[in-house]
Parts: sequence; structure tokens; C-alpha cells
Amino acid sequence: MDMERPPYLVDGVSMNGSDVVGETAAALAAASIAFDGVSEYGDYSTTLLDAAKELFDFAYNYQGNYDADGYYVSSTYGDELCWSAAWLYAASHESPYLTKAEELYELHCKSRGWAFAWGNKNAGAQMLLYQLTGKYDYEKKVNNFVTKWMPGESLPYTPLGLVFRDIWGPLRYTAGTTMIALIAADSGLHTESYLEWAKGQIHYMLGDCGRSYVVGFGHNPPLRPHHRASSCNSTLTGSPALRSPDANPHKLIGALVGGPNIDDEYDDNRQDYVSNEVACDYNAAFQTSVAALLHFELQGRK
Ligand SMILES: *[C@@H]1O[C@H](CO)[C@@H](O)[C@H](O)[C@H]1NC(C)=O
Ligand SMILES: *[C@@H]1O[C@H](CO)[C@@H](O)[C@H](O)[C@H]1NC(C)=O
Repeated sequence: MDMERPPYLVDGVSMNGSDVVGETAAALAAASIAFDGVSEYGDYSTTLLDAAKELFDFAYNYQGNYDADGYYVSSTYGDELCWSAAWLYAASHESPYLTKAEELYELHCKSRGWAFAWGNKNAGAQMLLYQLTGKYDYEKKVNNFVTKWMPGESLPYTPLGLVFRDIWGPLRYTAGTTMIALIAADSGLHTESYLEWAKGQIHYMLGDCGRSYVVGFGHNPPLRPHHRASSCNSTLTGSPALRSPDANPHKLIGALVGGPNIDDEYDDNRQDYVSNEVACDYNAAFQTSVAALLHFELQGRK
């Protein structure tokens, strides 16, 4: 890419960034749980948790949104603060983090999120707070979120059975909800119906709709995802790479693309970033959902 892509310093003076810093704290706290007790990594788990605590303090004390010239501005940062405090409690078991998470929940996270994706963490915070406390209020919020996506509720479905939240990357929004539904199912909330629904949605993406939406997997997978590192090589760059009719020279194996329109139609076109983009929020939730389905299957609970 030869356009300018300036980063901005989040230093509490020129700019604050409770959204990006809070989300990073949440990620590091979650990772510290994954590495806890893994002996070949020594005290890496503690390193992650210490960094997460420092970042959370900074995000909380210097409140504001990161703003890169208007790109990807979070609508609010309160949800990322709540989400990170909840993850810090999950990782550290230190009760002040739970107190803070519940305070932040009351202030910022009570409403039903439009979706669980890069800009809104409400459903994730509600889910995690339910897992951490078992309180009925969080349980209700989780059920209220997931139920809205099920057939016969207010969201439209495509003829082949995908719940359709938005034309821009619909599979990502659905995957965000299947992830919440599967964690809810694993936590004992409507286990059978949430599992069955999430499985149907993930299987649509994997091929039940007649094609695969995952690069390198299944029948007729996408060949031209809108993704720079996958589209370019040392001889093919810039606009010729964008416009090339060929398959991407580097195969981005396992990547979920944006997905079809509301009529299940899809064009494997690199220039169409609405349907063929690949992004972290699409894939984190999708791959978590696939892992959750495997987890249920291995336990014989399918
Ligand atoms: C960042 O937060 C600090 C502490 O609340 C505040 O003094 C400062 O004005 C904020 N900076 C910006 C750019 O909003
Ligand atoms: C780059 O990709 C194009 C299109 O797939 C291919 O024709 C070309 O040989 C590749 N160049 C290198 C150096 O691999």
C-alpha cells in the first residue's frame, strides 16, 4: 500500500484511547488465563496480566476514543472498559476489578448490543459477567441478545437460512452471535436450542448453502479475498494486484470472508470489500465458534 497510514500516539495528552487500550487490556488478560500454568512459558502469564492491569488503569484514567482521522471510531468506549475490567477479574480473581466491571456495566453496558463485533462489546461483557457471577440480570441480557437473532424474531433470514444483520460482512455479525450463543450454551443457558441454531449458522458458512465462505476449505471456497498481504507478492502490487482476475497469490487459509447478500448471492471479487473483506473480528468469533462446536462434539453433546 502506498497511501499514507499515519498512526497516532495514545499518550493521555494529545489523544486518549480507552476503546483500543481497553480492548488490548482485555485481550492480554484473557491470554494470561490461556498461559496460566503452562510451564514451558514460565511466568509469561504474569507478564501478560501485569501489562493488562497497567493498560486498564491508563484506559480508565485517561478516558476518550482513539480517532485515526475518522476511521473505525468506536461509538463509545465504556463497553471496552467494562469488558476489560471483567476479563481482569476473570484472570486475577481480585475483587476490585469485579466491582469496577459491575459499575461500568451499570453505566455503559446494559443495553442490547446491535451485534457483537469490533465496535460493541456489550454482549461479550454481559456473557462474561454472567459466567463470573451467575446473576440473573446478566443471564437475561444474554438471552435477550441471542434470542433476537433466532428465526421468527425481528431479524431477516436469507432463503438458505442465514440470519442477515447487515450487507457489510453479514457472516461476521452472525459469527459474533454464534460465539456468544455457544458460550451461553456451554454455561447452561438454553443449551440445546442455542447449540442447534449456532451449528446451523456455522454450517451455512462452511458449505451447507452450496459453497464455502472459508478460504482453502470445502467446496468452491473464495479465491479472491480483499486482503492486501494475500493479494500481493513481490511482482504484483498496488492497483494491478487489486484488479487482477487471478486467484490471490498467497492463499489465506482458514479466513472467513464477508459473505452473501440477503438473497444468498455472492461474487468472489477482490474489489468488493463489502462482501469479500477479511477482518480480525470476523475470524476471531468464527474460529471460536468452530472450536466451540468441536468442544461440544468431543463431549458427545451435539
Ligand atoms: C485525556 O484524559 C485526561 C484525563 O482525564 C484529560 O485531562 C485529557 O484532556 C484527555 N485528553 C484528550 C485529548 O482528550
Ligand atoms: C505473483 O503472483 C502472480 C499472480 O498469481 C504470479 O503470476 C507471479 O508469478 C507471482 N510472482 C512471484 C514472484 O511469485
